[in-house]
Amino acid sequence: MSLINLIEFNCLGDDRGGLISLEQNKNIPFDIKRVYYILDTKKGVARGFHAHKDLQQVAVCVKGSCRFILDNGVQRESVILDKPNIGLYIDSMKWREMHDFSQDCVLMVIANHHYDEADYIRNYDDFLTVSVK
Ligand code: TYD
Repeated sequence: MSLINLIEFNCLGDDRGGLISLEQNKNIPFDIKRVYYILDTKKGVARGFHAHKDLQQVAVCVKGSCRFILDNGVQRESVILDKPNIGLYIDSMKWREMHDFSQDCVLMVIANHHYDEADYIRNYDDFLTVSVK
């Protein structure tokens, strides 16, 4: 089974321009507790390099592009996000890395829990130990 689960959002735009709406438990498959966005990422910088024990997220590149790597401890897959109407669903216990940010990239992430450092696994070897169980 692929690690890359993409959600396509309806484009509600008209001749005035674009509009996309995200709603909890409708096109976002969980209760929304938090939204954050990553922007102005410096050239050559990669981010992420962690998994979450319990958190689910949907990542949407609302502007520009970036490349995600998802890894479940056995498989590793890559996808380019470059469309504001496409969300990448990231389940708990998936190692993620974000690479190749375009200069104009605005990466919005929607999450089902508040920020909690205790939910992070930031060491890949620790992730492998837990994920293969
Ligand atoms: P981090 O999760 O390391 O960023 P990334 O994985 O995207 O590279 O977060 C960077 C810092 O921001 C870290 O000190 C934690 C803090 N932070 C919050 O306070 N709230 C949040 O919702 C997020 C995502 C991060």
